[in-house]
Amino acid sequence: MKFFIDTANLEQIKEAQDLGVLDGVTTNPSLMAKEGITGRNNILKHYVDICNIVDGDVSAEVIATDFEGMIKEGEELADLHEQIVVKIPMIKDGVKAIKYFADRDIRTNCTLVFSAGQALLAAKAGATYVSPFIGRLDDISTDGLNLIAEIRLIYDNYGFETQILAASVRHTMHVLECAKIGSDVMTGPLSSIEGLLKHPLTDIGLEKFLADYKKGN
Ligand code: G3P
Repeated sequence: MKFFIDTANLEQIKEAQDLGVLDGVTTNPSLMAKEGITGRNNILKHYVDICNIVDGDVSAEVIATDFEGMIKEGEELADLHEQIVVKIPMIKDGVKAIKYFADRDIRTNCTLVFSAGQALLAAKAGATYVSPFIGRLDDISTDGLNLIAEIRLIYDNYGFETQILAASVRHTMHVLECAKIGSDVMTGPLSSIEGLLKHPLTDIGLEKFLADYKKGN
């Protein structure tokens, strides 16, 4: 399973990259705003900065919600850097835009996906990635992980190549469950990746090994 980090914070992206397990980055307008990145030029520059830190795919989201606007913005984003994947919302014009980009070998990430039907449409249109938001489904008492399982089943039934990118991942258990189900990618905060490191028996065991070593040296 690929690990993406879901942030526009350059320090956290560097930290995940330095760990050696990072496969890409996802961002969205809210994450950009959280880092105080505003204005079109600053946002575009920030995407390039992110691409220069990581080796993998970097999702950059369009703001337009009409077909022509999404095409114009998406082409501009794709031209920024070869690692950019154009992030398009799951709306009617978005599906058309995904198809347009697929026909031109421009990679896309279909975002704001909350149902298996939406994921099926995204795959039919030729999205590179589909992003079901599991945490936000959990927030409204709906099983987000079950959606990942449904999409996995549907994509496997027909050999769709669209990669399932579990998004709105909040914690390590989301990561582990996505791995068990067979999500292709997960994107979450740095804490959801670093949390996988932690086990008290590891810390206790290491402390004892070092203490025993010191006794004999
Ligand atoms: O990748 C989607 C993500 O940014 C949304 O996460 O935690 O705001 O639901 P969250």
